[in-house]
Amino acid sequence: MQVTAIYPGTFDPFTAGHRDVAKRAGKMFDELIIGVAANPNKNPYFPLEERVAMTAEIMSDMPNVSVKPFTGLLVEFTSEVGAQVIVRGLRAISDFEYEVQIAGVNRHLKPAVETVFIAASQDFTFLSSSIVREIAKLDGDVSDFVHPVVLEAFTRSKQQSAKQGDK
Ligand code: COA
Repeated sequence: MQVTAIYPGTFDPFTAGHRDVAKRAGKMFDELIIGVAANPNKNPYFPLEERVAMTAEIMSDMPNVSVKPFTGLLVEFTSEVGAQVIVRGLRAISDFEYEVQIAGVNRHLKPAVETVFIAASQDFTFLSSSIVREIAKLDGDVSDFVHPVVLEAFTRSKQQSAKQGDK
């Protein structure tokens, strides 16, 4: 049986920690779809299309991994694309409680879909997208945490803001 998994997230931006989880999930399943959530509640820094394009470029070395945007419920998206598994990364015990809650909600909404957790590599347990955004906005070096594509996007975005005079 062919198993398709979804790795969902806001990915604002996709970090080295996300790539680590996605690479390992890509090796475990026949097909991995990285689902980039529109997630307007989080008021993302990068527009949805840019988050999708950057993530696709970063994962382009894995042929069985694709990247798609989604809005609305994650379980609806799993039905749309025919996925049987949801993948989430666990960085620390603090992630566990929330993740188990979300997995429970998703199982209630759609029992046929299993959530699988992948333990994040030790190197990235402290990393999150908001930490990366914070450092980048304050002109710190985030090159150890993100792909060069994301570094360029930060530079472009900061130049645009400076031009518009809102920096
Ligand atoms: N490496 C680095 N950072 C990681 C990480 C890893 N391995 N794993 C998680 N993170 C970070 C994320 O970048 C994010 O950081 P931020 O808050 O600083 O931006 C944080 O940990 C986790 O954020 P969280 O909000 O839990 O997840 P998310 O933004 O990645 O994605 C969705 C959440 C999209 C999966 C969830 O909101 C969703 O399913 N939405 C659809 C609506 C829905 O179905 N709701 C019902 C279920 S609640």
